[in-house]
Amino acid sequence: GSMESKLKLSDWFNPFKRPEVVTMTKWKAPVVWEGTYNRAVLDNYYAKQKITVGLTVFAVGRYIEHYLEEFLTSANKHFMVGHPVIFYIMVDDVSRMPLIELGPLRSFKVFKIKPEKRWQDISMMRMKTIGEHIVAHIQHEVDFLFCMDVDQVFQDKFGVETLGESVAQLQAWWYKADPNDFTYERRKESAAYIPFGEGDFYYHAAIFGGTPTQVLNITQECFKGILKDKKNDIEAQWHDESHLNKYFLLNKPTKILSPEYCWDYHIGLPADIKLVKMSWQTKEYNVVRNNV
Ligand SMILES: *[C@@H]1O[C@H](CO)[C@@H](O)[C@H](O)[C@H]1NC(C)=O
Repeated sequence: GSMESKLKLSDWFNPFKRPEVVTMTKWKAPVVWEGTYNRAVLDNYYAKQKITVGLTVFAVGRYIEHYLEEFLTSANKHFMVGHPVIFYIMVDDVSRMPLIELGPLRSFKVFKIKPEKRWQDISMMRMKTIGEHIVAHIQHEVDFLFCMDVDQVFQDKFGVETLGESVAQLQAWWYKADPNDFTYERRKESAAYIPFGEGDFYYHAAIFGGTPTQVLNITQECFKGILKDKKNDIEAQWHDESHLNKYFLLNKPTKILSPEYCWDYHIGLPADIKLVKMSWQTKEYNVVRNNV
């Protein structure tokens, strides 16, 4: 609540603990790496504030059988341990929802969504659906909200050190690359256009979050860009992710998560990656996607 004194960054974050990686952006936002944060201080702070954290996840068609159960089971175990969590589960077929036994501080709400034919459209419509749900109820139910892809699994504690006003995830394959090599949308005609010479990081749309107000703006702005592109008969190279990267270029995230929070083991395990909190699932696109 407003009575508590606000926690200072230096109360829980030490950027010098990981000198070999970028731990602070040019705009002074923390990049949270294993070793830089004191979770106990934050757990104590947020417990007093009695926060609730939301998590949206979408599963359509064969994604339900392939990924949803493992995602939820692992989230139940590792996501915001000790704090109340509401899972917002969006599926096209409610009858195929896996039965999951959740811990005492966890609850879930299941919503039926209209299936889109193309996976690109499922992914882009997600922005619209999240926004509608924030306005309709999520804003009254949680203090922070994460939006995640279903084809990943929690491996270790994904805790309150990740909470912030607007939170972006570094994409595992690009965290050390030069911005000019990033696969940003490079065509001027797209609303997601980012010229060479610009850009801070390549963010992964598999995880983003923040306060409900901020996430609402993220999803609304991304969806506006998607609609604008549709009208101009163009589709950004990486769909909603291209628009998300454009959004975070214009509206800098207040916190960034290291690739330890969304790792792809196909890369191997470089020394930078001290503790994997979540990892990509094996992508079985031929099995779960109708079109490529
Ligand atoms: C929402 O996004 C727009 C467009 O990028 C930006 O101008 C505005 O400041 C944002 N609003 C908030 C509350 O962040």
